[in-house]
Amino acid sequence: MTTPSPHKVLITAGAGGIGRAIGLAFAAAGARVHACDIDGAALDALRAEAPGITTSVCDIADRDAVRAMVQEAAAALGGLDVLVNNAGIAGPSASVETFDPEAWDAVLRVNLTGTFTVTQAAIPHLKHSAAGSIIVMSSLAGRFGYPNRSAYSTTKWGLIGFTKTLSRELGASGIRVNAILPGAVDGPRFQKVLEGRASTSGRTLAQEEAAALANQSIQRFVDPDDIAAVAVFLASNAARSISGQIVPIDGDSQSAS
Ligand SMILES: NC(=O)c1ccc[n+]([C@@H]2O[C@H](COP(=O)([O-])OP(=O)(O)OC[C@H]3O[C@@H](n4cnc5c(N)ncnc54)[C@H](O)[C@@H]3O)[C@@H](O)[C@H]2O)c1
Repeated sequence: MTTPSPHKVLITAGAGGIGRAIGLAFAAAGARVHACDIDGAALDALRAEAPGITTSVCDIADRDAVRAMVQEAAAALGGLDVLVNNAGIAGPSASVETFDPEAWDAVLRVNLTGTFTVTQAAIPHLKHSAAGSIIVMSSLAGRFGYPNRSAYSTTKWGLIGFTKTLSRELGASGIRVNAILPGAVDGPRFQKVLEGRASTSGRTLAQEEAAALANQSIQRFVDPDDIAAVAVFLASNAARSISGQIVPIDGDSQSAS
């Protein structure tokens, strides 16, 4: 039995970082890609680089905007086979005792509620697909505790529950749901994390980088393309029996900090 390869892909927060790498990888694999992002200028730059990719400006925390965006994506793609729930924000670094409650709400609104809203709107479209698949972007912080990042870690653990629940709800409709858990991904976001650690520890940036690598078995940080390759695999027919799984891509990291 064969099913067609997925080819209509919606990626949230697809204009930068990991989402951009995933979108370009799907496009290179022959898929039709629609990327949404809060940053319109970054979407313009993505379209200039990959003219086949269609885009929508959308804040994932805005329910009405998300519902409109999913309709726009399905119309632009002519349906939907794959949803990549990539959008997620880090929030501030602070202990639970001192964490700004507004910042807590903001992280939950994007990472948890945003993912829920996109997924809820996408399910009716995915049910029409012969190869429906959802990928949820969790984190190393969804496998370990992460001191001073309680909102982030809480949402990334929450997304594991969401993934496993969705997998059970949607399996009968032929839709697979898996979570990817990146570790330290090379790029500006992780550099900021290292700078933040150096500013509080009194160590140099190089010392913080060495400490971060000492936490891993594989002695290099993750390339966004490594994550994109796994996303393309998980959405492919080769992964047709894989659902409800969590896939760490973190060089065998032993903690989240
Ligand atoms: N970078 C890492 O080291 C790392 C590690 C583990 C997990 N992750 C997860 O991977 C995902 C992508 O991370 P990244 O580092 O590529 O992110 P990033 O900070 O580089 O941002 C990627 C994109 O998200 C967009 N964005 C931000 N807020 C948005 C919103 N409210 N609505 C729509 N778009 C929004 C930005 O404009 C940007 O284009 C996130 O869920 C993140 O938690 C990242």
